[in-house]
Amino acid sequence: AATDPNAGKRAAAEAALKEVQDDSVVGVGTGSTVRFFIEGLARMRARIEGAVSSSEQSSALLRAAGIPVLDLNAVGPIPLYVDGADECDPWRRLIKGGGAALTREKIVAEAAQRFVCIIDPSKRVEVLGRFPLPVEVIPMARSLVARALVQLGGQPVWRDGTTTDNGNWILDVHGLRITDPVGLEREINQIPGVVSVGLFARRPADVVLIGATPMADPPR
Ligand code: A5P
Repeated sequence: AATDPNAGKRAAAEAALKEVQDDSVVGVGTGSTVRFFIEGLARMRARIEGAVSSSEQSSALLRAAGIPVLDLNAVGPIPLYVDGADECDPWRRLIKGGGAALTREKIVAEAAQRFVCIIDPSKRVEVLGRFPLPVEVIPMARSLVARALVQLGGQPVWRDGTTTDNGNWILDVHGLRITDPVGLEREINQIPGVVSVGLFARRPADVVLIGATPMADPPR
């Protein structure tokens, strides 16, 4: 039999389901790995209060699964946030936003006490940046921000045709070798017109599940 190309994603999603606490609000990310997590969450929906969602796409999947979608402003701190990633380094720092949901993902991750990242082995890298770094920008600032990103050493490409859930645009920054993710996250955040950057370094994941296996602690 052919091997399931989604086996790693499914295994990671299943392992993350074990972290869900009864009667809690679950923060839910976006993407094809999270889709398997939502499928599992549907099976245990009677045991949770509901979900805070990071995208219109996930909200639709959650509602279709019979899981209440709650307003972040109406809930307290969230014990758990589960999301995928486009790249993950040994320090659990991430590139996210391949699905254009980076800003709401960052908000829900920040609101969560524990961020469990679910990936398949293809996402693990030594240095972030092979995957083009997504930056969400206010539309009128697109060229301004692009020029600033060139100054930082990248080659920004407008993701033409994509509008985010927040009504903004995405620049994908190619050609970066991100050896100082915390510093780069801070610098990009300071450019006027940037809504958010898909670098999750200041607040990395607390746990990374590569398939069913937790990633080893970072080198010291
Ligand atoms: C969405 O904006 C991204 O941050 C996703 O988390 C990321 O693209 C991972 O998606 P997959 O699980 O589909 O690879």
